[in-house]
Amino acid sequence: MKKAKISIDKHGIVSDVDPRIYGSFLEHLGRAVYEGIYQPGQCTADEQGFRRDTLEVIRELNVPVIRYPGGNFVSGYRWEDGTGPKDQRPSRLDLAWSTVETNEFGLNEFMDWCKKANISPMMAINLGTRGIESAMDILDYCNHPSGTYWSDLRIKHGYKDPHNIKLWCLGNEMDGPWQMGHKTAYEYGRLANEVGAVMKRYDPTLELVACGSSGIHMKTFGEWEREVLTECYGVADYISLHMYWRNDDKDTPRFLAESVNMDRFISEVVSICDYVKSRKQSKKQVNLSFDEWNPWYHNRHAPIEAWSRHPHQEEELYNMEDALLVGSALITLLRHADRVKIACMAQLVNVIAPIMTSDNHVWRQTIFYPYMHVSTMGLGRVLNTLVDTPTYECSVSDHAPYLDSVVVENEEEETLTVFAVNKSEEESMELSCDLRQYADYTVAEHLVLENSDRYAVNTEEDPFRVVPQTGGISKNDKGNFTAVLNPLSWNVIRLKKTR
Ligand code: AHR
Repeated sequence: MKKAKISIDKHGIVSDVDPRIYGSFLEHLGRAVYEGIYQPGQCTADEQGFRRDTLEVIRELNVPVIRYPGGNFVSGYRWEDGTGPKDQRPSRLDLAWSTVETNEFGLNEFMDWCKKANISPMMAINLGTRGIESAMDILDYCNHPSGTYWSDLRIKHGYKDPHNIKLWCLGNEMDGPWQMGHKTAYEYGRLANEVGAVMKRYDPTLELVACGSSGIHMKTFGEWEREVLTECYGVADYISLHMYWRNDDKDTPRFLAESVNMDRFISEVVSICDYVKSRKQSKKQVNLSFDEWNPWYHNRHAPIEAWSRHPHQEEELYNMEDALLVGSALITLLRHADRVKIACMAQLVNVIAPIMTSDNHVWRQTIFYPYMHVSTMGLGRVLNTLVDTPTYECSVSDHAPYLDSVVVENEEEETLTVFAVNKSEEESMELSCDLRQYADYTVAEHLVLENSDRYAVNTEEDPFRVVPQTGGISKNDKGNFTAVLNPLSWNVIRLKKTR
């Protein structure tokens, strides 16, 4: 059995968790919007065509914030197309994903859906084919009470009260050559600064996310962040990070070590933000928005019928080991809770998603579970968890840890929650921790997600093949905490103060 140790101190706090790190992402892509959340006439659809069955499962995830409408899609999008009477909305080519967008679902439907789902919007604007003027227009349409062309148009469209959207993304992945309107760092940084300045002139309390690199492997990574932030440091509140993982070669140890790259990505972007801060002698701190992350390789860019409407596109079938990496990614985000304030799993429904739908059913993929566990039990404050773990060598790192773990304390609920992944393929791991400061806390629950087949998946026919079980082995004996983590398992150990 492998042995690992974690150490915490009640007073050694990384940060309170910003619940927005459990955000999600909804793009006009494939069947995410159409058929995923919106399907008029479907047996559970409400009067607006929103699927109640999908909404119910989404609610289990406790999603605080959702990025919309893209993604690559936004870089060619005219937001006005998705407003006003539905029968007058134009269909347009979506050149990002080679489909036709009918615009039946648009900004106002999205806001109505957010209300029903109890999720806050994170609205992305098009800085690919558009710029300052359309940013001013959408802001006026969404947030101004009345008395202007755009706000009165919103009222005419049936929305008397402003939407009051506070969180905005200044474009999407503008460093990527695949992006419509792709720009150099200087061009984008200047534009982001100009757009951000007019937006903040209208409302200085808006929060703005500038585009960082669309991956740590981009040739421009690092220099992109430096140059963009140099141009727009005054208006940017966050810089974005995106990361997708592949496991085409079925190399489990390497794949599970990708959380090391995620950790490095975060630390390096923090350093660059702080470098620009010091160069500018600024008091302001720019934080991180990790607003796209997930494994994505099972069906990535599989061919579709070009210019069709909401085809099956980018539909990933996630297996057990994908869930382990998702768990490790969530742990990594938590461990950086002092600087990562927003993060969005990409995406929510049908497209690279934890939730899948057919015409009559909704089911949870393997990756749904770690996401749900952390978003519901990972609220409070992150304790600085020192991890002493055996390591292994792989192409990602010479010292990839077998254990990823983090501890979150919730003072109000008087709970302490340990999230842990054992990446060993063969061996269980004994995890120990000195919990004498929490000697009066006992293990209330130890949830385990595991499967003898690491490639096991949940499907419409077999939706509950990979589900968490209670009954993991752990105890806190007067402050001596021990737990057994099975090979290739995701673990949630919840301790509660005893009366
Ligand atoms: O999430 C799918 C796509 O991945 C997004 O549209 C884009 O931003 C990224 O490349």
